[in-house]
Amino acid sequence: MTVAIEMGQTAAGSPAALDLEELLATRLLVQGNSGSGKSHLLRRLLEQSAPWVQQTIIDPEGDFVTLAERFGHLVIEAEDHTERALQVAGERARIHRVSTVLNLEGLDAENQMRRAAAFLNGLFEISRDHWYPMLVVVDEAQLFAPAVAGEVSDEARKASLSAMTNLMCRGRKRGLAGVIATQRLAKLAKNVAAEASNFLMGRTFLDIDMARAADLLGMERRQAEAFRDLERGQFMALGPALSRRPLGLRIGPTDTRPRNATPRLTPLPEASLEDARAVILAAPPPETPARPQRKPQPELLDQLMAAKSAALELRPEPPAPVVSEEELAERRARVERVLRAVLAEPDAGFRAVGVLYQEFVVRCRIEGLGTAVPDLNDFRRMLTRARAGLGGDDAADDAGWQDVSLRASLLPEDMQGVFMMIARAAKDGRPCPSDAAIARAYGSHSLRRAQRLLTYIEDQGLIVCQLDGAGRRIVTLVELAWATAPGDPNADDTTNESLVASSS
Ligand SMILES: Nc1ncnc2c1ncn2[C@@H]1O[C@H](COP(=O)(O)OP(=O)(O)O)[C@@H](O)[C@H]1O
Ligand SMILES: [Mg+2]
Repeated sequence: MTVAIEMGQTAAGSPAALDLEELLATRLLVQGNSGSGKSHLLRRLLEQSAPWVQQTIIDPEGDFVTLAERFGHLVIEAEDHTERALQVAGERARIHRVSTVLNLEGLDAENQMRRAAAFLNGLFEISRDHWYPMLVVVDEAQLFAPAVAGEVSDEARKASLSAMTNLMCRGRKRGLAGVIATQRLAKLAKNVAAEASNFLMGRTFLDIDMARAADLLGMERRQAEAFRDLERGQFMALGPALSRRPLGLRIGPTDTRPRNATPRLTPLPEASLEDARAVILAAPPPETPARPQRKPQPELLDQLMAAKSAALELRPEPPAPVVSEEELAERRARVERVLRAVLAEPDAGFRAVGVLYQEFVVRCRIEGLGTAVPDLNDFRRMLTRARAGLGGDDAADDAGWQDVSLRASLLPEDMQGVFMMIARAAKDGRPCPSDAAIARAYGSHSLRRAQRLLTYIEDQGLIVCQLDGAGRRIVTLVELAWATAPGDPNADDTTNESLVASSS
């Protein structure tokens, strides 16, 4: 049986196919500078082949975890498991034929290498009964098979290199088909690169890389310049699974998106210069050792608050309103309603601000609010409050609450909603939100992220987290001394329901 995966289109506009069976036997190497579209290419290959073949992805940046929702890959958070556990997980993945993503995000180089090696060894060291075909995709493969020794221990480097060599040189018999991507061939260990017979070469700038790519494709050196002019998503293909002659192709679209998308241009906030000076040039926090201190930093807080109120006083008076107060209030209420409707959509918690804003603008227009639509910055502020479970003018004149808003502004924007949600629970004496609820407010599915986020906010000296005897979490707001009631960190997320309920 031949299974042809459509990777995209050739320059002539015909489908560019990849023969999956052939690929299993002959492996694939992808080279291209950062941003040339390698990860996108791998994603296209994975999506198209998902129905046909078991897969695993060694994912240093957590890019591919989004495959899980659509294609059912099991995401393994490498940092949660020992090497031994990962080796066993690799074995079991083969025995049960489960596609997996090994997420190595957040680990240092040494641990990325060790854990990837353990998992790969598990895939490799399995008895003959389980040698089913499997795609093993390694993104940024130079991290796992570096050409030269780096800063990591010899032991880690040897383990990782040997696992990668096994994959590329000896994996075939065991059904493992290595697909590796790298920014630069020169950075990748030679023996690992040498075993691939299929190549997809993308945009490359350095002469030496272009020359090597041309060599691998059997092109003349003087043609190598062509690699400089490739666009993002354009690759030259060669190999038994792709094409007998070097063939230019453009990779097609994907169904899922990388989680860490390229930053997009967004309008700058409209902070006054005074504001900027006060915030950017406030005295730095005291230097902290490896583990940041958990005590509050009243000095910084005081300064920031002083600076903020000074800035507020200096801000010019807004121009006189042309509409009456009543009209304004009525408009605000309608805008709030639109926002709640947008947020009541399933999965609204996980969509990017830009996407939500577009939807918001469209709905505002439909409501006849065209001229009164808040700009993106105002929208962000409204979103932060709404996700924290706060209404429009709710508690706006409460001094304690204003304190909370100021403290929140010490945090990166995307964390402020979470902080305010917890603050709200603390103020009302309600149970501490669960990890799931925090993750949702943060726009993530990952409970570990939620936990890391709490730790981060705690490290900033804004909150103190404690567990009671029953393992329930209590969060106290530093200085204000508001504390949440004990809440089960593992409870299901009910935030969204309550948000929707309270809005209807
Ligand atoms: N063929 C393509 N079509 C559409 N967008 C692409 C294509 N290739 C890459 N992109 C986009 O370009 C950006 C960089 O691509 P990426 O695959 O992350 O590059 P690399 O992994 O080589 O650094 C991403 O936002 C990606 O979605
Ligand atoms: Mg990439």
